[in-house]
Amino acid sequence: AFNLRNRHFLKELDFTPAELEYLLRLSAELKAAKYGGYEVPRLQGKNIALIFEKTSTRTRTAFEVAAKDQGAHVTYLDPGGSQIGHKESMKDTARVLGRTFDGIEYRGFSQQGVETLARYAGVPVWNGLTNEFHPTQILADVLTMTEHSDKNRTDIAFCYMGDARNNMGNSLMVGGCKFGMDVRICAPEHLWPDETLVKECHDIAGETGARLHLTSDVDQAVSGVDFLYTDVWVSMGEPAEVWTERIKLLMPYQVNADVLRRTGNRMVKFMHCLPAFHNRETKVGEQIFQEHGLDGLEVTDEVFESPASIVFDQAENRLHTIKAVMVATLGS
Ligand code: CP
Ligand code: NVA
Repeated sequence: AFNLRNRHFLKELDFTPAELEYLLRLSAELKAAKYGGYEVPRLQGKNIALIFEKTSTRTRTAFEVAAKDQGAHVTYLDPGGSQIGHKESMKDTARVLGRTFDGIEYRGFSQQGVETLARYAGVPVWNGLTNEFHPTQILADVLTMTEHSDKNRTDIAFCYMGDARNNMGNSLMVGGCKFGMDVRICAPEHLWPDETLVKECHDIAGETGARLHLTSDVDQAVSGVDFLYTDVWVSMGEPAEVWTERIKLLMPYQVNADVLRRTGNRMVKFMHCLPAFHNRETKVGEQIFQEHGLDGLEVTDEVFESPASIVFDQAENRLHTIKAVMVATLGS
């Protein structure tokens, strides 16, 4: 009933709630088909470009494996491995790659960049993360919440804590409202999403029945939620200098055992798009922890490693949801 053929996937705002529901249904179907051994390749003979101007583990591998499962071939362009931005404009890049490829994934900096690529490529373009939005992540997150809840999707409540002015804050707010959920955004006020976007989301909520609350009060925000979500406090592309200020601002919003208790829900689940700074086992983590004398930033190791944590189910669902986006927009 839904035809998304030749559409781009740039941000949740471009899709109706019914279209997003359709993508989730297709994701679940493709997941079942893969594990049931009856997956039908619908991207055979397609050539797909994967452009990454920022690093990636999940998004890149999800696109590669999803394409392979569906019979397509991928070409990976790494950060620095192309002429984009420094020697060739986005508009020219789009018109070149559009001649060679059937679909293009792009991870970069400005949303405007991916929008320009889409405007001139002539083939479907998929946003693999920009500073403003991370739409493929949200499909995986909502699929994961649905799988881990007995409730109807529209009855599910989640709270996103931390830096809500980044791609995850924006995309979870829009996505949660599109899906008609109970959406809590919890952050100090100047790290809330842009006012215009918040207003737009209130309008969406008016149509879908979503409940949207922004607050800096942790107890209010987490009360009764089914899922507690957080993300890094400093995103890719931001200068390292902001760490000190962010730590000071956001430490009260760290997801730790106490915050889990304050939800009042013994079954509350913890979510994170990953990568996460929960221990010293990364270069950046080690340095920041040492400098500030901390054990864990946006989440404690205790919560991250607890039975409440469903972060690896989320990561796995990137594969199935990204596959659905490619099949829906490019599949035969
Ligand atoms: N969550 C996510 O997008 O991970 P990567 O940066 O590893 O792709
Ligand atoms: N907000 C993070 C998300 C990573 C998947 C970043 O942009 O670095």
